[in-house]
Amino acid sequence: MFTNKKLAVLGGGKMGGILLRGVIDKKILSPDRITVTDIDKDRLQTLASTLRVSVSSDNKKAVKNADIVILAVKPQIFPDLLQDIRPAATASKLFMSIAAGITTGAIEKGLPKGARVLRVMPNVNALAGEGAAAVSRGKNAKPDDARYALAILGSVGLAVEVEEKLMDAVTGLSGSGPAYCFVIIEALADAGVQLGLPRNLAEKLAVQTVLGSARLCQVADQHPAQLKNMVTSPGGTTAAGLQVLEEGKIRATLIGAVEAAVRRAGELALGK
Ligand SMILES: NC(=O)c1ccc[n+]([C@@H]2O[C@H](COP(=O)([O-])OP(=O)(O)OC[C@H]3O[C@@H](n4cnc5c(N)ncnc54)[C@H](OP(=O)(O)O)[C@@H]3O)[C@@H](O)[C@H]2O)c1
Repeated sequence: MFTNKKLAVLGGGKMGGILLRGVIDKKILSPDRITVTDIDKDRLQTLASTLRVSVSSDNKKAVKNADIVILAVKPQIFPDLLQDIRPAATASKLFMSIAAGITTGAIEKGLPKGARVLRVMPNVNALAGEGAAAVSRGKNAKPDDARYALAILGSVGLAVEVEEKLMDAVTGLSGSGPAYCFVIIEALADAGVQLGLPRNLAEKLAVQTVLGSARLCQVADQHPAQLKNMVTSPGGTTAAGLQVLEEGKIRATLIGAVEAAVRRAGELALGK
């Protein structure tokens, strides 16, 4: 489906770089069909030498020569970026934004009439090929357009299509979710150290415990609560630990964290 297609990635930072490596590693597109832009010349040189892609600081020219354009700059940069690339944007091109909070409607307003826009929420776990991402279509984007984004994001993990009204919830859950999990892993490791485990052993055990629990959720045909009950013997160690988590309101705290991230996505959409 990508034969003869040319890709431009505007913003070669963390997420732009991750998606690039996924597309190249999974041979979705060859480096000679990809251009990356950035304002950081050193970053561009690194991307050119490591990934063999074309690099430029000219966003408009990159859009002019591309069929698919990934918008991978910070949400705050979007108004200037859309104004910059608008003269080169046509309805024949597909625009895929990975920005938190920026709606397809806001992007369509910044581009010529009929622009085909997708809104995508990837996450940093794509770096390990275990990303969790969602795609939603703007008013002019066709089902086939979403397939391009699903293929690109599918190269670095799970990718699903959702209605745009669900995108802020996706952002709060899986977009920011890796950070919540990293805090949990760090805290478990600190607990191990506090109880006498060497730091590197504590970290290895904490990481594998979270990885294994997630994998078990994927492979076992059981609800996480059933899996929790499997390791909670009457009057046992796990029950004692779980009681402290409940006293600490872990569920309400995690739900509150996702809700706060969703509120912030809403603020970003308003340019706050
Ligand atoms: N990081 C994540 O986990 C994550 C997850 C989901 C979605 N996202 C979204 O992905 C987007 C990028 O985030 P990120 O974390 O990858 O940020 P980042 O590392 O800062 O990447 C953005 C890159 O764009 C460059 N840039 C700034 N202005 C530009 C311009 N006018 N033209 C071209 N490039 C320009 C930046 O250069 P300077 O650094 O020199 O300004 C930087 O290299 C954001 O919209 C974010 O909401 C990120």
